[in-house]
Amino acid sequence: MSRTCLSVNMAMTLDGKVCRPDGKWYGLSSRNDKRRMDQLRAEADALLLGKNSLLQDDPVTHLRYVEGKSDPRPVILIRTGTLPVDRKVFRHSKTKPLVYCTEKNAKEVRSTLSELTEICVLGPEDIESTDVLRDLGTRGYSNVLLEGGPRLNDSFFRKNLVDKINLTIVPFVIGQEDLPSITGSSIAYENFDLQSWKLIRTEVIEDEIFLQYERRQ
Ligand SMILES: NC(=O)c1ccc[n+]([C@@H]2O[C@H](COP(=O)([O-])OP(=O)(O)OC[C@H]3O[C@@H](n4cnc5c(N)ncnc54)[C@H](OP(=O)(O)O)[C@@H]3O)[C@@H](O)[C@H]2O)c1
Repeated sequence: MSRTCLSVNMAMTLDGKVCRPDGKWYGLSSRNDKRRMDQLRAEADALLLGKNSLLQDDPVTHLRYVEGKSDPRPVILIRTGTLPVDRKVFRHSKTKPLVYCTEKNAKEVRSTLSELTEICVLGPEDIESTDVLRDLGTRGYSNVLLEGGPRLNDSFFRKNLVDKINLTIVPFVIGQEDLPSITGSSIAYENFDLQSWKLIRTEVIEDEIFLQYERRQ
């Protein structure tokens, strides 16, 4: 059986930041970027979303700019605590989001989200990205889109699980040095300089650039 394909989709400023100083991303992506995001989502069957992004940005996760396609199923990883039920992903999803949690917070997650989501316990205290992809594969999801944030992306990049990177460069410079990029933690990836990515597509629309890279085999 072929492995589930995992694509990252992120937007960053000209100086490589993926959030504003207040920890949110409102107002920096154009309508063109949102349309492009929906095109990528329409090709995916599952959409991985970070817990902090849902808390801070509360993104719209259903398709608005593409017609006649199904929304990918939202998939959320919650390692500690739970999420408020008022998030858009819980209120507007056509299919019940799938939530991965741990044995440690399963009770809390079930008490808040069992009506709105399907819950799957995947590890005692942590959720391994490899287990997530494997479980999604056994559920029949073959094309998964990972939309950040950087911490969630890091857990997949660190295990070499990312096959494609879709990147939008937006025309702003923020300047604050401690804001995150598309991925990362305090430790660099081993042999990062031996693994360059292959540019397979570029598109310029107005002041934004859309880039698509894939992992070299
Ligand atoms: N520009 C863009 O395209 C874009 C897209 C998305 C987000 N963002 C920005 O990204 C920021 C949020 O990113 P973030 O890095 O702080 O958080 P995040 O990646 O959205 O969420 C990370 C959290 O998810 C939970 N989690 C559960 N299992 C995990 C695992 N295996 N690996 C990693 N995390 C796991 C952890 O919280 P618990 O341990 O508490 O469960 C972790 O702290 C926001 O500022 C948002 O605006 C930007």
